[in-house]
Amino acid sequence: MNKKTARILATGAYLPDKVLTNKDLENMVDTSDDWITTRTGIKERRIAAEDQSTSDMGVIAAERAIKKSGLDKTNIDAIIVATITPDMFFPSTACFIQRKLGLTHIPCFDISAACTGYIFSLVTAAQFLKTGAFKNILVVAAEKMSAITDWEDRATCVLFGDGAGAAVVSEEKGSMEIGQFFLGSDGRCTDILNIPAGGSFCPASEETVKKRLHFTKMTGQDVFKHAVRYMTESAENVLKKSGLKIEDIDCLLPHQANIRIITAVAKRLGIPEEKVYLNVHECGNMSAASSSVGLDGILSQQKDVKRILMVAFGAGLTYGALLLQKLGEKNG
Ligand code: UT7
Repeated sequence: MNKKTARILATGAYLPDKVLTNKDLENMVDTSDDWITTRTGIKERRIAAEDQSTSDMGVIAAERAIKKSGLDKTNIDAIIVATITPDMFFPSTACFIQRKLGLTHIPCFDISAACTGYIFSLVTAAQFLKTGAFKNILVVAAEKMSAITDWEDRATCVLFGDGAGAAVVSEEKGSMEIGQFFLGSDGRCTDILNIPAGGSFCPASEETVKKRLHFTKMTGQDVFKHAVRYMTESAENVLKKSGLKIEDIDCLLPHQANIRIITAVAKRLGIPEEKVYLNVHECGNMSAASSSVGLDGILSQQKDVKRILMVAFGAGLTYGALLLQKLGEKNG
């Protein structure tokens, strides 16, 4: 019997129309284009319309991926959505996307792994496919970061953007295989990047809203330090497991939080900058959606790419890496 595989059959992405530039931010908080560019690499980011939810963006990316896949949407056996900006606490954003796609009676659930969410979700989908439980899974990573951003806090509001990406992953169709992976979390760091209020620990009240505790809080330098170490270690782990050297990788797709983090990780891994995919300058940090929009960008622009190494970190902390490899490519 043939060994079952998990493959990327097609991808899609969506970015909202509204562009918010660093110049625009200069008129909102005490910041400058120069500070944002040199500290983060970000020049502009996309912002969803007020009445546009995470599932609204996710469903557009999903429809684009499904169309490219050539599958009828009724062939989708499950929907997994990576997000930290769900439409509502419950039901899951996956259920909203299911409803908007007009699908019924398939399992739909969200994964909360912050910026590493797309890697966690692709790996989860791959397990269902490899065991033969499902044949085709829709994986979406979508974020409306603007909804959880404190637009009065210059330390965080310059960093984030909105967007969505999706992939149809399939047991038997598609040329890019989901290969070796590494996933990790460090719950000791839950206090360096979070939204303090609104959950069961500190339910929303007039007081929490007044204190702006329903917005993202971050100790930037601590996150930075951990990010470089965990991303490097995750990528090295996958290379080792795969029997590959960094020279074997055609494209590194790192989480797009900050150009300085990306450059530091690339340097430690020894991969030249022309092999490192970037969209941080035009999209900012879209949390889980950064990797999904990035993967769609790579696969639609670089037709002959054979091996992509995805690597990410995020709140939790969570971290991980995933190798995507053209079918038939030998390791090492
Ligand atoms: O997806 C995961 C999420 N997050 C991340 O990956 C973020 C990781 N961390 C970072 O990217 C960086 O730490 C930041 C970009 C957030 C900040 O850069 P930094 O070099 O660590 O700056 P800092 O926090 O040490 O701040 C340096 C100075 C401070 O002023 P003083 O105390 O030196 O006078 C800040 O108040 O820069 C000030 N500052 C700003 N100035 C202009 C902070 N934000 C701004 C701003 N514009 N937007």
